[in-house]
Amino acid sequence: MSLPVPVRKAVERMRPYHPPLEGRGGKMRLDFNENPAGCPPEVKRALANLSADEIAMYPEQETTRKELAKFFGARAEELLLANGTDEALHLIVNTFVDPGDAVLVAEPTFAMYRFYAELAGARIEALRYDGELNFPVVRVIAALRKKPRVLFIANPNNPTGSLVKLEELKAILAAAARTMVVVDEAYFEFSGLTVLPWIRKHKNLIVTRTFSKAAGLAGLRLGCIFVNEELAAHMRKAQSPYPVNVAALAAARALSREKTFLARTVEEFRKSREELVRGLARLGLRQFPSAANFVLVDAGQQAKQIAAGLARRKILIRDRSHDFGGAGYVRITIGTRAQTRTLLRQLKEVL
Ligand SMILES: Cc1ncc(COP(=O)(O)O)c(C=O)c1O
Repeated sequence: MSLPVPVRKAVERMRPYHPPLEGRGGKMRLDFNENPAGCPPEVKRALANLSADEIAMYPEQETTRKELAKFFGARAEELLLANGTDEALHLIVNTFVDPGDAVLVAEPTFAMYRFYAELAGARIEALRYDGELNFPVVRVIAALRKKPRVLFIANPNNPTGSLVKLEELKAILAAAARTMVVVDEAYFEFSGLTVLPWIRKHKNLIVTRTFSKAAGLAGLRLGCIFVNEELAAHMRKAQSPYPVNVAALAAARALSREKTFLARTVEEFRKSREELVRGLARLGLRQFPSAANFVLVDAGQQAKQIAAGLARRKILIRDRSHDFGGAGYVRITIGTRAQTRTLLRQLKEVL
């Protein structure tokens, strides 16, 4: 059937994106690196206390933005809020990338970098992690000579769980004078490694953070962009007028005022990750060191059987084989220690 109006060429070329499956509620969700233990009660109370007035009005974000900037150790002028990191990435591409511009990524990595770049009609320069899943720092620095508009780095990276070291990021920034370097710190709470303070020194550095992972607010969609004031002002012009809803703002305020939740979460998941790593080793499964709230497992021929067997037992993990040219890799999100013990018991049965 011919279309009344042709879709943009970039859209025509895109493969349909398959969003997460429905029906995950009530199951043990170790598939999307959310916080499987959920958000603190203070957040639920803040949501329940939203007034009809607040819900009826367009969201006002300035007070919250100031409060959150302080929480993250930044100035309000350096922070933009977005409907999840996803929309933050979209805004970054909309601000800096024209059709035909180059966007540099090292894959496998978070799929949305490629997604928004392709949507914008950019040329994707994709390098690969090596067999040991090391970030290809030398090749990235070489590729920066061609001045791609944007370089995306997830740190820690999803799905590998690996970290790019601070010295490597320093070398990348030194080589990237004509490129916006986006360091996506969605899993910062687990790695403890950040370059956020560097945004003052490096005008081409953007750092993103999210409330979807450790903070347990994935359903509310709230992401943060940190960048120097001058570029932040330009990015604000490219943003829609109400990018974040009133519930997300209330939840983020409550979460940032709750003093112990994040520290307790990180400590529990760190212990849980150690148990998972030991348990997987006992089962003879090869895995990669992770600085995030998930572990990538090289399960070879068994990958599909493991994911399907666990799903039958209402435990969801992610088959990431397509990231590795079909070889069998699964990614398992860290839950509480109780959840990890259940997972390991069930996994043993599946195997
Ligand atoms: C590296 C990375 N960045 C961003 C996101 C998405 O974050 P948000 O929920 O804030 O859109 C994910 C989610 O899996 C991720 O792995």
